[in-house]
Amino acid sequence: MGKIDFKPGNMLYPLPAVLVSVRDKDGSDNLLTIAWTGTVCTNPPMLYISVRPERYSYEMIRRSGEFTVNLTTSQMTGATDYCGVRSGRDHDKWEETGFQKLPAKRIQAPLIGESPVNIECIVRQEIALGSHTMFLAEVVHVSVDDRYMDEKGTFHLEQAHPIVYSHGSYHDLGRLLGTFGYSVRKKKRKAKK
Ligand SMILES: Cc1cc2nc3c(=O)[nH]c(=O)nc-3n(C[C@H](O)[C@H](O)[C@H](O)COP(=O)(O)O)c2cc1C
Repeated sequence: MGKIDFKPGNMLYPLPAVLVSVRDKDGSDNLLTIAWTGTVCTNPPMLYISVRPERYSYEMIRRSGEFTVNLTTSQMTGATDYCGVRSGRDHDKWEETGFQKLPAKRIQAPLIGESPVNIECIVRQEIALGSHTMFLAEVVHVSVDDRYMDEKGTFHLEQAHPIVYSHGSYHDLGRLLGTFGYSVRKKKRKAKK
């Protein structure tokens, strides 16, 4: 058993592959796929997306100062890939994917109806890092699909079959291994008969 040296690069996987929706100041809409994304703060709720300046969406985000992050599901995998390999410069990706376009609550960038979770964001900081510029953004509204709510008001994201992106490929989540804190949780004693 040994280790092979890899050149320093992006190897932090798996990641979500989200669909980011943007609306320009003139009202034109676009979608792009983003994997360089993550949560950075709980309170205020904040996340980031890192975007290459050559993306068509880049200036749209800069001009509008906002975007919506739409989580993706196994059913949406084809469209997620498509929006990451075609540009809004010469494609109407909303039209071509056939996604249902819903109005956002707090910002202009629309929501994808088929997404189980839509996260409306306002850009608070823009950091040019090199190949990518990071947009640090505050989450100003979240919508979830009521199909995945149970009668106790708990949201079951896993029922939507979210996908992850790992080293060039898309996967579903596989089987449940545990829940938050399960390693220290006391096991319920079996009731005596
Ligand atoms: C799985 C996947 C993840 C991607 N992640 C990013 C990313 O994090 N940042 C980025 O700038 N481009 C990313 N891309 C590429 C853009 O989505 C792609 O260049 C897209 O065509 C840009 O669209 P636009 O020109 O309409 O803005 C990703 C593509 C795929 C397929």
